[in-house]
Amino acid sequence: MIKEDLSLLEGLHTPFYYYDMDALEGTLSAMKAAAQAAGIAVHYALKANCDPRILKAVRAAGFGADCISGAEITLALESGFTPEDISFAGVGKSDKGILTALKAGVSVINVESVQELLVIEHIAKKYSLKANIGIRVNPNVDTHTLRYITSGMQANKFGITETDFPRVIEILRRSDSLVFKGIHCHAGSQMDMRSQAYRRVCRKVASFCTFFEEAGLKVEVINLGGGLAVNYEDPSEMPDFEGWMDSIREIFSESGARIITEPGRSLVAGCGTLYSRVLYIKENDLKTFLVIDAGMNNLLRPALYGAYHKIENLSADARAWKVPGLEEVTGENQVYEIVGPVCESSDTWGKERRMRLSVRGDLLAIRSAGAYGQVMANSYNMREPAQTVYSDKIEEAIKEEYV
Ligand code: LLP
Repeated sequence: MIKEDLSLLEGLHTPFYYYDMDALEGTLSAMKAAAQAAGIAVHYALKANCDPRILKAVRAAGFGADCISGAEITLALESGFTPEDISFAGVGKSDKGILTALKAGVSVINVESVQELLVIEHIAKKYSLKANIGIRVNPNVDTHTLRYITSGMQANKFGITETDFPRVIEILRRSDSLVFKGIHCHAGSQMDMRSQAYRRVCRKVASFCTFFEEAGLKVEVINLGGGLAVNYEDPSEMPDFEGWMDSIREIFSESGARIITEPGRSLVAGCGTLYSRVLYIKENDLKTFLVIDAGMNNLLRPALYGAYHKIENLSADARAWKVPGLEEVTGENQVYEIVGPVCESSDTWGKERRMRLSVRGDLLAIRSAGAYGQVMANSYNMREPAQTVYSDKIEEAIKEEYV
């Protein structure tokens, strides 16, 4: 649950990302408890948010790191993650990234194509290094998640499909530089882990493991990726870590392999809020626009995926509660199209959002912004980056300077 003191936040320069460090701790503890009870390891997917304080908290929780680039591996090492606790994934690993991973001696490089396997072998040989290899499989199962964030279908670029397994096995068997470790699969994001679709993914992975083992390659590690959904409508709801662990255990109870999960979003989405101020209210015959000072450059998800983020007008709520009886009168009866300042029509936060009457200067909270928020930000329109504010260090944040 996000705790916020409006009187402290109101004076800050917007837009800003706010991380509630207690909420983060709460979520990490819940994941840790569920994973420990199930005997499953956790490698946090850095791509969701690589803020240094967040990484520190994740490391302190005892989790490993899932990295997607050489730069993420370097950051993970600098943040105290050990090479044994780092895995390296990605469909387009650069030669430089591969070399960084090999030199660091990461626990596993999850390979996404036959050609990539050969390139890793070539680089490892050249530097007389050994490469720990995981095979990222493509289960070709529809997990019914958002079109843009599904990754486990043949139509998606990710993973190696069954038809290539014999070739992969042949290369692994004959190579002196490649050390087979296990199977990796990430079938999508924002998934319901209790669903039949997810169980189907797990069953497919289990059958692929059997295939590799029957070919004489021992599967020591099964990495089931991330993908656990968060509730964007109700940000206070804790992600279903236990349900996820139950589904995995149900299918892999007999397996002697080390099982790893790679959650990103579910660990960090809830602790982050993007705060923004109302700049202008403008009306035409069709609708009323609320123009706010946070844009798609600060948080790309709505513009890129049509993603929903809950938005609350904290100032209007505070006004309504201040005067007894006013709350009922000023209910959420205004309908706004909330838009950002960037010069793109897709810079829209939400259409037909019901809110209290809003005025210039009101402080809005855009919830569940902790995952794939700040990391995907850019400077389009030469906009300044949003500042970062931690709940336990609000006094260090930049204050608003009014003109
Ligand atoms: N492991 C691998 C190999 C991945 O590709 C991903 C995410 C994860 C783990 C973590 O998945 P999570 O638990 O966060 O769902 N930008 C999009 C999400 C892209 C996810 C990419 N891969 C969004 O804003 O929804």
